[in-house]
Amino acid sequence: MGMLTIVHGNCRCTVPAAPGTLLSTLLQQTVPSFALPCSGNHTCGKCRVQVQGFVEPPEAEERALLGTAALSAGIRLACFCHLCGDATVILEQAHSPAILSQSRTPSLVYTETGFGLAVDIGTTTVAMQLFDRASGTILAEQLASNAQGSFGADVISRIQACKSHGLHTLSGRIRGQLAEMAAACMHQAGISHIAESVVTGNTTMLHLFEGLDPAPLAVAPFDVPSHFGGSSRHTLAGAPVYLPRCIDAYVGADTVCAVLAAGLLSGGVQFLADIGTNGELALAQNGRLLCCATAAGPAFEGAGLSCGMPAAAGAIRAVTLEQNQIRCETVQDAPACGICGSGILDALTVMLQADVMDDTGFLEEDFALCDNVRITQRDVRQIQLAKAAVCAGMLTLLEHAALSPDQIKRFCIAGGFGSTLNCDSATAIGLFPAALRDKAAFIGNGALGGASMLLMNRALRADSERIAREAAALSLSSNASFTEHYVACMSFEPF
Ligand code: FES
Repeated sequence: MGMLTIVHGNCRCTVPAAPGTLLSTLLQQTVPSFALPCSGNHTCGKCRVQVQGFVEPPEAEERALLGTAALSAGIRLACFCHLCGDATVILEQAHSPAILSQSRTPSLVYTETGFGLAVDIGTTTVAMQLFDRASGTILAEQLASNAQGSFGADVISRIQACKSHGLHTLSGRIRGQLAEMAAACMHQAGISHIAESVVTGNTTMLHLFEGLDPAPLAVAPFDVPSHFGGSSRHTLAGAPVYLPRCIDAYVGADTVCAVLAAGLLSGGVQFLADIGTNGELALAQNGRLLCCATAAGPAFEGAGLSCGMPAAAGAIRAVTLEQNQIRCETVQDAPACGICGSGILDALTVMLQADVMDDTGFLEEDFALCDNVRITQRDVRQIQLAKAAVCAGMLTLLEHAALSPDQIKRFCIAGGFGSTLNCDSATAIGLFPAALRDKAAFIGNGALGGASMLLMNRALRADSERIAREAAALSLSSNASFTEHYVACMSFEPF
């Protein structure tokens, strides 16, 4: 039996490792937040780690994905690499949390004291902030890929994975990850005790956190085992957890929190698009809320794209065409190592301008933005499906309410993707109607912002529960109008 030492930031641990064990298997058991973006299917080349010691040499497929420079620097892909004795693995610290977990909330009365955690369990990304509740000061924050990522990219795959791998596996994975992130936040802030947490997320994510079987959420009539809106039976960092109320099977507590953070019910016709793996949309009119959810997939969060990544250091976040030259801006001006959601929208706009892609999304060949970041035909199709789903959802909601886009007074865009989105690019590729461009307000991670409001002002919890109870949800799954819009919205054309 060999020993594997895992170095992760300031943490180091050693675990027994039988010869022949796959490195990714041990990493997933020991570091729940370690992500396998293609579920270990040997296609993404993103499970990169630095390895020293006794491991099997790489074979041709892994060599092709990594390239000679990475291999000679000791980099391996965890889902290829088999251990054969003692080894040390160093996990790359790739992501800066400061970008995606950004949130802005309306002015708030702070009624609570002590420290508390606000958490948004996204299908793709988990964001956490530690607050001093008396002042609203953010003391620490963490952002990580959802540790259930290896069980599939969307909520349906996760629900199916509960049948094949057991509910306790997925449930334990997310609770383990939150415990790990909470410990890191508290360590960072130098505190040993918190008073409470508020954990929000879509309906499936909250069922998985709570350890409730989400199977009914995936089949008609889409019964909801629990809407939540009360205390969790679990604790986080030893403190009680409040779970905000969900609206229905596909419009979750994250939407309710984002509605709160956006001040969407403050009057007039207002629209909220929370653009994540689940595109959640809400239309407020005369104090009433009409919502729907549309399966956008993880492409806007940078996942599932050949060079995709979150908006972290080195991600291309903006692309422009100046005198026939492509200019890329990266997060923190770090060397480009991938592209995030806002960057890919800009890239597609530039590709349309440069005539390397037509409005059906057809590409003659891969488009290189720089030496190591390129856009493939498959990437374009992923974005095309995602943008058609979001845009068709918007148009269906508006049609249902007998409203046109120009009647919207304020258009709030939430999601980490939204905080750096270029509205000109979004309208140029037809992500949303051009009439909304000058009405757009970015609220960052609205779900996290709303969770932090509930953490610091207990009275708002009753308001949020009322919002969820009174909201109407429109099902898009068998909606003929949605299908028509979806087909029309496939085109990369402004409208
Ligand atoms: S997880 Fe995709 S190549 Fe390893």
